[in-house]
Amino acid sequence: MDLLEQIDKTKLPQHVAFIMDGNGRWAKKRGQIRIFGHKKGVSTVKEMLTVAGNLGIKYVTVYAFSTENWNRPVDEVGGIMSLLSKAIDDEIDNMMKNGVRVSMIGEMERLPKYLREKVTYVIEKTKNNTKLNFIVALSYSGRWDIVEAARQLAKDCVDGKISPADISYDMFPRYLSTANVPDPELMIRTSGESRISNFLLYQLAYSELYFTDVLWPDFNSEEFYKALISYQNRERRFGKTSEQVKK
Ligand code: IPE
Ligand code: IPE
Ligand code: MG
Repeated sequence: MDLLEQIDKTKLPQHVAFIMDGNGRWAKKRGQIRIFGHKKGVSTVKEMLTVAGNLGIKYVTVYAFSTENWNRPVDEVGGIMSLLSKAIDDEIDNMMKNGVRVSMIGEMERLPKYLREKVTYVIEKTKNNTKLNFIVALSYSGRWDIVEAARQLAKDCVDGKISPADISYDMFPRYLSTANVPDPELMIRTSGESRISNFLLYQLAYSELYFTDVLWPDFNSEEFYKALISYQNRERRFGKTSEQVKK
């Protein structure tokens, strides 16, 4: 039976998050410079969006560039920024056609101006699309997200909009960059690393984690299906006993 048939279409995650890792190693294995791997990585993103759209998965978040990635060599950072800009140019028509709404989480101010403008443009242009929400974590880190939320909460307290007693389990996440986005049920990381690397620290609290050795440029629809099948074979207990959740 092929992999797609093994997926229970009634038990899909609403939100899948990806740590797209392994582009550099993929390029190196081919005797190429790292940016070559990042380029190939863009086509994997396209494939994931197609699969998610076909299956009806509503939210896809990709970790495109972390706060820590600013510490990479200047050439690589510049290369990634211009690649992202080009990807927006190349894909905007497709996204309109396929009902993809783009949003971005991260420190927008740190992006070079030309990219910031392009990102603002694509967000605005796609804002009424409803089939699939594509969230790009760009100059993002989980700690940054939480600290920003704390800063905004403090400000709203000082401004008298809320009082400290209003800060609750329900309202805190509304101050995160992912306000109104359900937490990812599934987080996939490629390239054999088993870590979170400062991704969605708050939001991943109860996500199922899937790690694969496949490098991001080699990741494809079949590999995505495998991850979804693995997810569907897990029992999500949320602290309860197995007997309780089976009821
Ligand atoms: C992931 O691939 C892409 C980014 C972090 C921008 P890497 O560039 O980290 O690839 P490896 O881990 O060096 O192979
Ligand atoms: C995580 O990958 C960030 C992105 C995929 C954008 P890294 O390759 O930067 O992670 P570490 O440094 O190996 O943990
Ligand atoms: Mg890496």
